[in-house]
Amino acid sequence: MTYKIGISVVLGIYLGLVACNQNTNQNSKPGVDSIKIEAEAGKYRNIDTAEDCAKPTKYPNQDKPMALMMRQMADNAQKMKDKVESGEKIDANEFPLIRFHLVEPTDPNILQPQFYENARLFQQAHKALMSAPANKQKEMYTAYINQCINCHQTYCSGPLKRIRKLVLN
Ligand code: HEC
Repeated sequence: MTYKIGISVVLGIYLGLVACNQNTNQNSKPGVDSIKIEAEAGKYRNIDTAEDCAKPTKYPNQDKPMALMMRQMADNAQKMKDKVESGEKIDANEFPLIRFHLVEPTDPNILQPQFYENARLFQQAHKALMSAPANKQKEMYTAYINQCINCHQTYCSGPLKRIRKLVLN
């Protein structure tokens, strides 16, 4: 009896994995592209919990809400940077906190205590930036971007290159 249950569990997991693979592969054609993507993924494998987070945005319809919010955050940060550099005041009406930690990520394995702690520190930095007086904005913006970098060093190193461009000149 236990033996049978064991078999069906193993079989179930196996079928689940096969189904998953078919699902993720259904759109990819074998060839140069997929080899390149494999190589990229391998490059980050040691440091990334979320290998997928460095993926090219080839199939936008399959992107998870967390990935979409991150893109929005990166666009917003670019606008913040431009304003902060030209001494314009930024505020939370224009740049509200994006609650990415509440939505589905590409890789659910990232949802660890350290991830939520990083999200909390990020949230604090957002608040500090938005309530900073104009003469403190540069400093607080830098602290804010450092929190993007902090989390990405652990959970998703692919976009770090892009994020480093958001650092003040
Ligand atoms: C608490 C951790 C954490 C913080 C803080 C964080 N990120 Fe992310 N970021 C992630 C994770 C995890 C992903 C992968 C999301 C997914 O694929 O579902 C990601 C994905 C991204 C992506 C790639 C999105 C795509 O196209 O797939 C960009 C760009 C990005 N983040 C920029 C930023 C910027 C800019 C900030 C700061 C304003 C930031 N992140 C703050 C964890 C974080």
